[in-house]
Amino acid sequence: MIALEYPDLLEALLPAESAGNTFAVADPATGEILGRVTNNDVAAARAAIQSASAAQPAWAAHPALARGRILRRLAELLLQHQNDLALILTREQGKPLSEARGEIAFAASFFEWFAEEGRRAYGEVIPAPQGDKRLLTIRQAAGVAAAITPWNFPVSMLARKAAAALAAGCAMVIKPAEQTPLSALALARLARNAGLPDGLLPVITADRDNTPAIGEEFCRNPAVRVLSFTGSTRVGRQLIAQSADSVKRLALELGGNAPFIVFGDADLDAAVAGALVSKFRNAGQTCVCANRILVHESIFDTFAEKFVAAAARLKVGNGLDAGVEQGPLIDARALEKVQALVDDAIDKGARLLLGGKPHALGRTFYEPTVLTDVTPAMRVFQEEIFGPVAPLIRFSSETEAAELANATEAGLAAYFYSRDAQRIFRFAEVLQYGMVGINSAMISLPEAPFGGIRQSGLGREGARLGLEEYLDVKYLCIGQDQ
Ligand code: SIN
Repeated sequence: MIALEYPDLLEALLPAESAGNTFAVADPATGEILGRVTNNDVAAARAAIQSASAAQPAWAAHPALARGRILRRLAELLLQHQNDLALILTREQGKPLSEARGEIAFAASFFEWFAEEGRRAYGEVIPAPQGDKRLLTIRQAAGVAAAITPWNFPVSMLARKAAAALAAGCAMVIKPAEQTPLSALALARLARNAGLPDGLLPVITADRDNTPAIGEEFCRNPAVRVLSFTGSTRVGRQLIAQSADSVKRLALELGGNAPFIVFGDADLDAAVAGALVSKFRNAGQTCVCANRILVHESIFDTFAEKFVAAAARLKVGNGLDAGVEQGPLIDARALEKVQALVDDAIDKGARLLLGGKPHALGRTFYEPTVLTDVTPAMRVFQEEIFGPVAPLIRFSSETEAAELANATEAGLAAYFYSRDAQRIFRFAEVLQYGMVGINSAMISLPEAPFGGIRQSGLGREGARLGLEEYLDVKYLCIGQDQ
């Protein structure tokens, strides 16, 4: 069990020896079973959707100001319980405690942002072409939303979705990743403490076997009007197909393959520091992680030397231990995939500059790894790595950098470092990505629209646009027809 200052946060966590319809939650750093949670099935998901449908109209009828007060209170509670929530997050997910604390603050920032943004769900008055008509639009809550949230950011991704949905006047049924249900349950508990009425934010925990059927229910159930998902492009495609019959709105944040481009005129030390944080934060298990590091030939060797030296200094260990900068991967399958990608690259001619194998700590710890001589033929170039592996690629011109950067079906985030003002605009426009960090490796903010183009998804989260995903536009035509 996890020792908390406020144990009610984990009231839904059952002892490890509990029998019945439950599944185990494990600490990826130690393998310890932290406890068990309810293994819900489709019937439970359907019941939650029904309760959400019953509760949602009254919530939508609440003035946006009143909804916002509850969301702001939830933000305050998240910050008040930051230590407990970070501890839960590190225990079930593995990220270092300092990153976990950052994630809780990031999650709170979405409730703060949308508490205000919900008050700005403006309609429009449209100049009419005839004098006997008045045309206007209003924006109304879409109804019940459902969310399938990921294990890599189990608090902040839930917050980014739920804050927008609740601010818009929707209810949201949550299916958290099976590896990290505790963070979702704790957040839902605080939502109740903040005064959120029952039925508006149910959390449907389920194991790996029950998850696909619950996802399908979210897609096919006509009462679910918006489905929000963060995860792989492969699963995103399945959800699109399964949602066809119920024609619902889809907000999909799918896989990335971010290029991180360093031009010859870049501030080299800033680029090294940016690449390091972008690549190794959360042990590389981030959709917007630098997946391919492209460096101009004029500075390649110096960049590689500095980057390898900095990566070699990263402290790997249990996220609870002081000073740890890289925790374990989420599970054994993740480790196997990362090793397979590294092996494939080496087989095809890449060279290891650092790491390349499981860490001496064992379990799912992996060494910070740097590969050079990487080519587009390698899986590390084509696929989302989701691990602490940095492929370095040399380029000789801006045109070649653009071609390499765009040579993927993904279009989530890209980064580049340059001090040439002309290049900054020119190159940002050429990149086929939904988000571009320029001389900045940390781009996620509640004020900014997060999302991808091409095979990386549909819609935006956060920002003004994030609210739109949960609002329907209704056009009113007022006439004096005879
Ligand atoms: C993600 O990896 O899905 C999101 C990470 C972020 O917002 O920075």
